[in-house]
Parts: sequence; structure tokens; C-alpha cells
Amino acid sequence: MVILDGKAISAQIRAELAEKVKVLKAAGKKVPHLAAILVGDDGASRTYVNAKVLDCEEVGFGSTLINLPSETTEAELLKAINRLNNDKNIDGYIVQLPLPKHIDETKVLLAVDPKKDVDGFHPENVGKMTLNLPTYIPATPQGIVEILRRYNVPTEGKDCVVIGRSHIVGSPISILLSQHNYPGNCTVTLCHSRTKDLKQVCQKADIIIVALGSPGFVTADMVKEGACVIDVGITRMDDASKKSGFRLLGDVDYETVAPKCSFITPVPGGVGPMTRAALMMNTMKVTELI
Ligand code: GUN
Repeated sequence: MVILDGKAISAQIRAELAEKVKVLKAAGKKVPHLAAILVGDDGASRTYVNAKVLDCEEVGFGSTLINLPSETTEAELLKAINRLNNDKNIDGYIVQLPLPKHIDETKVLLAVDPKKDVDGFHPENVGKMTLNLPTYIPATPQGIVEILRRYNVPTEGKDCVVIGRSHIVGSPISILLSQHNYPGNCTVTLCHSRTKDLKQVCQKADIIIVALGSPGFVTADMVKEGACVIDVGITRMDDASKKSGFRLLGDVDYETVAPKCSFITPVPGGVGPMTRAALMMNTMKVTELI
């Protein structure tokens, strides 16, 4: 069993990007600048956004954090987005999700200039991704593809079961792994809350990708011997013994599932750090796609 070490691979990716930044600087070119809009004070979202800023510092990108209060109106947020669309210094930006309930997420995602949409959430970029055209790929699915690539995990002709159909993870990863690429060329089954006989479907899978936010959902009896299991879950659970006050729980019952696997991602240290690295890769792409 090989543990897919997202922490190590993401550090490698950041080091590669830092080298590219040096080359850009030496050539007198502009270094990518990433901005993030955070609305409200959700603890997890704040941690993620702060981490993205730190990643920018490490690789040498510019970064701007725009923190808006939770009472921000939809119109005010759209104004902030418009400012970023027109700011020549900002090459790419993200609006951290989820947004407060009074703001229409679709309206917000549609307002982002597709050329600056390093999250790849705008319909224009989703369409390009679906057609396998060059574009920004959402960070979590891209992080998964990247870790599979860097560990040479076999994917061609494999049966891949994706559990969860979110626009951020399940839907895009099911599209990417069915495409005529490496990693890809899988036969993909996208499962969700209405799927019948999920256990039997999973038992046939060579690759299982689970993105539900339901701790310990995938148990050993659902997993074939030799399967590759990718765990996207990161549920916070109070834990006074941790400095942060919580620990992260994955969607996979790791202790019992791992011994059956050919490859598995741990939580923490698997997909999470790869998501952050993928956003940095997208931000570097800004210089290549425009
Ligand atoms: N919330 C959870 N994942 C993501 C992500 O990849 N991008 C943004 N903007 N918000 C998120």
C-alpha cells in the first residue's frame, strides 16, 4: 500500500513554482498576483484563505486578501468583484465559498471575469474544461489529478466510482477522469444520494473518490482489494488535545480501508494540500492562458 503524500507533493509543486517565479522576475516579467474575497468570518473559510495567502508568499506571487463583513450585500460584493475585474494588477482571484445565505452564489460566479477565474467555476471555464480545452480546472479535482500523475497511479481502463456530485469536486473530477488523457481514460460512475446499491457499485471500483463531508462513510466492506482510494473529506471535529482545538476527519474509515488499498490519500495530508497547490498552479497559468 502506497500512501499518496499530498503534503510532500504540494511542497514539491510550490518549489517548482518558486523557480518559475524567479525566471519571470529575471526576465523582467510580471509575477502573478492572486486576490481572495472572503465574506464573513467562518473559521474554516478564514483558515483556507489565510493558507492561500501564505502559499502565495512562499512561491513569490503577489497576494491581496479582501475581507468583507458578513452583512455585505450582494450588490456590494458584485462591486468588489467588478473592481477586481478591472484591476490590472490582479491576475486572478477567488471568492471563497460558501457565501452568506442572502447572497446568490450563481450571480457572483457569473460576475467573475472568466480570464481571472482561477477557481474555474465560471460556466465559460466549466464548458472549456468539459470540452478538454485549455482553461482553469477547479483546484480540488486538479489536485487529485496531479497527485495521481505524480505517483503514476494507473487509470487507463479502470472503473472509477466518484461519490458526491458537487460542482466543486464530484462533477468535475468525474469529467476529468473520463477524458482521453493521463490521468483519465477511466470508466466513471458518478454516485450520489439517490444511487441504489452504492456498496455493490463501490465493490467493483478500481478507484474510489469520495467527496461527501461524511466522516468514515467509506468502510472496508465497500472496497475491493487493491483499489486506489482518494478521500476528499475534511470535517472538523472538536478536539481539546489539538493546538487548533479540532482535528480533521476524512470520508474514509482509514484504519480498516488502508490495508486493502494499492494507493490511498490520508486525512490530513492528502487532497487538502494538493487543492492549495493546484490553486497556485492555476495562478501561474494566468501568464500562459492570456
Ligand atoms: N470552498 C470550498 N472549496 C473551495 C474552492 O475550491 N474555492 C472556493 N472559492 N471556495 C471553496
